[in-house]
Amino acid sequence: MCGIVGAIAQRNIVPVLIEGLRRLEYRGYDSCGVAVLAGGEPHRARSVARVADLDAQVREIRLEGVTGIAHTRWATHGAPVTDNAHPIFSRDALAIVHNGIIENYEPLREMLRGSGYTFVSQTDTEVIVHLIHSVYRGDLFAAVREAVTQLHGAYAIAVLHKDQPDTVVGARQGSPLVAGLGEGENFLASDALALAGSTEHFIFLEEGDVCELTLGGVRIVDRSGAFVTREIRHVAVYGGAVELGPYRHFMQKEIFEQPRAITDTISQIDRFDASLFGADAGRVFADIESLLVLACGTSYYSALTAKYWLESVAKIPTQVEIASEYRYRESVPDSKALVVVISQSGETADTLAALKHAQSLGHVHTLAVCNVATSAIVRQTALSFLTHAGTEIGVASTKAFTTQLVGLFTLAVTLGKLRGRMSAAQEADYIRQLRHLPAALNSVLVLEPQIIAWAEEFSRKEHALFLGRGLHYPIALEGALKLKEISYIHAEAYPAGELKHGPLALVTEAMPVVTVAPNDTLLEKLKSNIQEVRARGGQLYVFADADAHIVNDEGLHVIRMPEHYGALSPILHVVPLQLLAYHTACARGTDVDKPRNLAKSVTVE
Ligand code: F6R
Repeated sequence: MCGIVGAIAQRNIVPVLIEGLRRLEYRGYDSCGVAVLAGGEPHRARSVARVADLDAQVREIRLEGVTGIAHTRWATHGAPVTDNAHPIFSRDALAIVHNGIIENYEPLREMLRGSGYTFVSQTDTEVIVHLIHSVYRGDLFAAVREAVTQLHGAYAIAVLHKDQPDTVVGARQGSPLVAGLGEGENFLASDALALAGSTEHFIFLEEGDVCELTLGGVRIVDRSGAFVTREIRHVAVYGGAVELGPYRHFMQKEIFEQPRAITDTISQIDRFDASLFGADAGRVFADIESLLVLACGTSYYSALTAKYWLESVAKIPTQVEIASEYRYRESVPDSKALVVVISQSGETADTLAALKHAQSLGHVHTLAVCNVATSAIVRQTALSFLTHAGTEIGVASTKAFTTQLVGLFTLAVTLGKLRGRMSAAQEADYIRQLRHLPAALNSVLVLEPQIIAWAEEFSRKEHALFLGRGLHYPIALEGALKLKEISYIHAEAYPAGELKHGPLALVTEAMPVVTVAPNDTLLEKLKSNIQEVRARGGQLYVFADADAHIVNDEGLHVIRMPEHYGALSPILHVVPLQLLAYHTACARGTDVDKPRNLAKSVTVE
């Protein structure tokens, strides 16, 4: 979603701002812009195309300056047109970039119109910049502090004023913002990744903070108005994540990175111990009697998979819920439940709000499974398990999903062990299985050429059904989500046993039916479901374990998975579905890494 970069330096800062935007592109956006102070005036360039187009513009008009702000916008209020692109100005004196949504923008706009301000955009952001202008009395830091007290909603902002060329002011409430500290230069960004290569020293601003950046340093005022000192954290941001290397798209690169991502994630696990989840986890795990797991999208499907593990391995009752539903539904809190939130970004607004909602109801035990150590969700939970997937750039989540599954499996086994459900031999076997995963994944990835051949056929379809059973039903759901979000083919997933209760009516020879067929206890039932589809002329595309004895036949296309992999099988079976979606999308010529209408990090509701 929207991204912010800001900087004050003693050199031309435009290349740093543009590079920062380039690093934030993966979050999804539909317009972008940059403003700098030059010759005592704010100057800007904006584009409804890509950052590369903005870069070409700033070179052409020779936009240069030592103080600047920049933005990638994902439209909420107002269409993605140039007038709505940030930075937004007030009376050619103030410039602002904003992430988030201002809920009381309508009364504020009426009030500001009454004071003589003219609105030229359809954005909620324009009320903020005029509001700051209306209270400005020669001190930008003070004006922003005063103005934000009138805002309701979520925001991260960066602001500059023509009369204070040595200052950038930022503020956050509900949307992330970090200050980056350099040598004689300082930065602001919505994501530390934007500043890779510029600094490794960050202050993660807290809710309600307002900060002032000058060449000399950063001053911060908290929501009560008091000056505060926040911890400076050293974060080695891995800039290489935004390099594509030999791959055609980031999604392909990230699919192939999964053996490495899982190796890094399991490197912290040499036994199943509560301490993997935080210093206090032993006490918390001894106190809980159930789990409530909250997440969105792909992370929700990892939660659904985990439910099978948690109930079968740990024998602990587990409820899984979509975060955006849970946060608005009346529910009965349980002080003995561990609330687990799963998120790649750690910034998903619905998941964060669901967590806070659970806490407001009295849930005291919270744990995050997350890919970003410094994210809002990790900071809001008492316990955490960090996946080490590395930055995920492709909008469609891949390596974050499989590393989440590793974390959740580890949680299930750890809880099972603590609850006396596991022998030492079983524990040792689970460790062995985890360690074998990267090699097993490599042997799944070599199936890519066979999957490309299927993808050619899929690219000519408009609908697809995905089937799975038990532990692999969430994998079918994830396969369908991947296909629809990047290839725009309508896809639905069903537990195979449900076919005859409705979806079988859809089956014709034009409907490909993708089936996940591990050699587990439900295999014979699944084979019957396959026959139900074949008998109705359906075309089956089955990913079958090597020893499942499902072979190519009329209407039955089979790719054999290298081995059967027991409890961890979902982590292997999702990979060919990622590849199928990826190559189908490539064959259809879609923008794989930035599918239409979607953003990487959904930081607004
Ligand atoms: C799908 C996808 C999304 C995210 C969802 C939650 O490929 O990436 O469905 O899984 O928006 O995001 P996180 O995990 O960052 O909370």
